[in-house]
Amino acid sequence: MSNVSQVSGRFITFEGIDGAGKSTHVAALGERFRLAGAEVLHTREPGGTELAEALRELVLHRPMDALTEALLVFAGRRDHLRKVIEPALQAGKTVVCDRFTDASFAYQGAGRGMDLAPLQALETWVQAGREPDLTLWFDVAPAVAAQRRAAVREADRFEQQDLEFFERVRQGYADRAQAAPQRMVRIDAGLSVPEVSAQIVAVLEQRGW
Ligand code: TYD
Repeated sequence: MSNVSQVSGRFITFEGIDGAGKSTHVAALGERFRLAGAEVLHTREPGGTELAEALRELVLHRPMDALTEALLVFAGRRDHLRKVIEPALQAGKTVVCDRFTDASFAYQGAGRGMDLAPLQALETWVQAGREPDLTLWFDVAPAVAAQRRAAVREADRFEQQDLEFFERVRQGYADRAQAAPQRMVRIDAGLSVPEVSAQIVAVLEQRGW
């Protein structure tokens, strides 16, 4: 990886259905930037601030409709952007965020079937022009992801959904990737950990990062 000025101040997000295996690679990516001399901030959504983490608890565990979910995740996102993400980027840090707005389009939009127009309005208002510089979309078959999840944890409200739900979420991500091919790169997450890492390294190198 090249010099510090080239790797600082970048906003990188990770996306994919539950069980796609993002977590391992979120940590590895941060470490790679750190070794190159960048200051790295790891964060996640829903969450990332005290307020947004409180909203996360509600979204993951209380029954509500899709619009309510969207309003809460975007409220958390606004707080997260203002208090954490923007100041870090302004300070030249590399921000690595586990999920961001693509998840709202994939889960609330495609998964829950909510109209995309309010999501687009929320995206515009809440982000005020801020977009990730790079989004790594971990794409994996829902059946494979379900097996991985079952092995490691108890299911939250989203993880309890059936395979058809995750097929829709996957399609939602595919649509977002198609609409923003420069920003959003598909990673074949059905492969082994070293093979997934190699794909990520190739994406970074392609950008001169
Ligand atoms: P995640 O942090 O990946 O869960 P875990 O800690 O269990 O790995 O994501 C939490 C859930 O929130 C996930 O199922 C997707 C959902 N989600 C939305 O529905 N909309 C959103 O905008 C975001 C950011 C996440």
